[in-house]
Amino acid sequence: MASKKKILVTGGVGFIGSHTIVELVEAGYEPIILDNLSNSKIGVLKSLEKITKRAVKFYENDCNDISALRNIFRIEKNIVGVIHFAANKAVGESVVDPLKYYHNNIGSLVSILSVLQEYSITNLVFSSSCTVYGQPETLPVSESSPILKAQSPYGNSKQICEEIITDVFNSGKAIKAISLRYFNPIGAHESALIGELPLGVPNNLIPFVTQTAAGIREELTVFGNDYNTADGTCVRDYIHVVDLAKAHVKALDKLFAVKDEHYHDVVNVGTGKGESVLSVIHTFETITGQKINYKIGPRRAGDIQEIYADVSKSLEVLGWSAEKTMGDAILDAWNWQKNLKNLNLV
Ligand code: UFG
Repeated sequence: MASKKKILVTGGVGFIGSHTIVELVEAGYEPIILDNLSNSKIGVLKSLEKITKRAVKFYENDCNDISALRNIFRIEKNIVGVIHFAANKAVGESVVDPLKYYHNNIGSLVSILSVLQEYSITNLVFSSSCTVYGQPETLPVSESSPILKAQSPYGNSKQICEEIITDVFNSGKAIKAISLRYFNPIGAHESALIGELPLGVPNNLIPFVTQTAAGIREELTVFGNDYNTADGTCVRDYIHVVDLAKAHVKALDKLFAVKDEHYHDVVNVGTGKGESVLSVIHTFETITGQKINYKIGPRRAGDIQEIYADVSKSLEVLGWSAEKTMGDAILDAWNWQKNLKNLNLV
């Protein structure tokens, strides 16, 4: 039997990372996790073991620690690719502490790329974001849409990381990379054993909604209802995290199928459908039977009005499209919220 392909997954204990571990195991890859646990809980590993019915190898290290990285490649010997999730992702925090974002997000990519070159490994899947588009002039937004000036150091760090990969590619060095531009990941694994684990008050909509329904937060504020959209609230393309995880497996499959040792592409990962904040709240209420205590508040600084993906390239290049619905994602997120108290994730 051919041995399984070893894939290093940085940030593999995090929200998207942990769901991707499950899909990688399912698809016959052998994932190895590197995570510094700065924004994740070690107990997630137990949940991963329950879901996949096997132990996933774990290294508690920082991607910026290049000697630790080298050590992992030395010990594991035949790692053949990397999925690089590890990054800080809070837009507001990045405005207050930009150097943290430039140091961690850009530094870690540079370290990974350097070690990949040292070990002559070419395959890289990189976590990018639809934030690189800013507020696009035309919708849906496709990969050839212009990259606008970033609204935050977080957004800028993603733009710079994409440019770094492009520069390495343009230098003629052997590299095969796909940058996935995520839209808004939501939901949880249907087992309710892994999901989104915001530390402190959530920034993102769905964790705030589920925590309000669970009585942890008193009230949800809808940030503005005077936008130029159907109901006045912002529109996003919400993608189920399990679908998103599967897109990473497809991206790896693609890299292994490409015979040329010099390849680079960027691909949107979304559903192609835009949903307003109010419609998300109302769908939550309908699906779960829970009322959400919410009020309309002022706009949040830096929010864009409306974005959703042109998804034709993901189908064409990766053979991937979203399968789950907003209803699936909401139900899974709610089941995860309810199950959290039963899990010892600390
Ligand atoms: N929202 C509220 N109330 C809340 C939280 C969010 O009304 O308490 C609204 C926001 O104003 C926005 C929508 O819900 O209109 C979605 O907000 P999120 O914070 O969940 O997501 P964002 O679209 O702001 O951000 C996400 C990712 C970022 C990424 C960005 C790209 O979290 O990492 O998409 O657009 F950069």
